[in-house]
Amino acid sequence: MKLENLISKGTNASVFRDGNTAIKVFNKDFPKTEVLNEALNTSRVEETGLAIPSISEVSINNGQWAISMNFIEGKTLYQLMKENPDQIQSYIEKMVDLQLEIHSKRSPLLNKLKDKMVRQINSLDCIDNVKKYDLLTRLDGMPKHIKVCHGDFNPRNIIVAKDKWYVLDWVHASQGNASADVARTYLLLSLDDAKTADLYLDAFCKKSQTEKRYVQTWLPIVAAAQLTKNKPEEKDLLMKWLDVVDYE
Ligand SMILES: Nc1ncnc2c1ncn2[C@@H]1O[C@H](COP(=O)(O)OP(=O)(O)OP(=O)(O)O)[C@@H](O)[C@H]1O
Ligand SMILES: [Mg+2]
Repeated sequence: MKLENLISKGTNASVFRDGNTAIKVFNKDFPKTEVLNEALNTSRVEETGLAIPSISEVSINNGQWAISMNFIEGKTLYQLMKENPDQIQSYIEKMVDLQLEIHSKRSPLLNKLKDKMVRQINSLDCIDNVKKYDLLTRLDGMPKHIKVCHGDFNPRNIIVAKDKWYVLDWVHASQGNASADVARTYLLLSLDDAKTADLYLDAFCKKSQTEKRYVQTWLPIVAAAQLTKNKPEEKDLLMKWLDVVDYE
């Protein structure tokens, strides 16, 4: 494989293009279990029939793990939203349709979203035990569903190709409550731009006939989960969301 044509550099990995192949090369010392977990999650999701890149190889080169998959030609939805701000409403609607399609799938062997959230809340040092208990009780009281959830569904992980829209980056895929996945997308969009986030939540709730209040009940939980990423620039907003107890 040729690693010359760099197309993206992230925190944990760089993505290269070699002809029709995209190669995600993880940083040296990035844990093998996480790479294999990403590959396994992705291939489980591929079995549901969703339009996603198909993994062709998992390899190691000079101590760096890599996942190879087919290269999807197109722009990310994030790029398109920046280029065509007047089309934001139609982009958001299509994004919601795509997320609803994901939620319509089942994959019984994927990890449970709720188990992951319990682990994340328990691992936080920046909140006290009372707050943890509050969040865990709230989480426990939420309806238990088994819908496929992307876990990081946002415009940067969507590629708009000629024929259709593809979703990338399935490392956080799980099965669980769709509204938690929607609350997470709302949170990710809010960290970027509050107006787009509100358009998204309106569109989702309208299309899926979900009460906004129900999605909002998840906000303190998804904010706690995001706090585990330890990004200083996000901390103020996330701590504020933790304390929004109820919207009723
Ligand atoms: N199969 C693919 N086809 C085309 N482009 C891809 C493919 N896989 C990844 N990319 C490009 O690389 C970028 C990062 O890929 P991915 O989301 O899988 O990694 P990441 O670890 O989330 O990176 P980051 O930390 O920057 O978000 C994507 O936004 C996309 O532009
Ligand atoms: Mg990504």
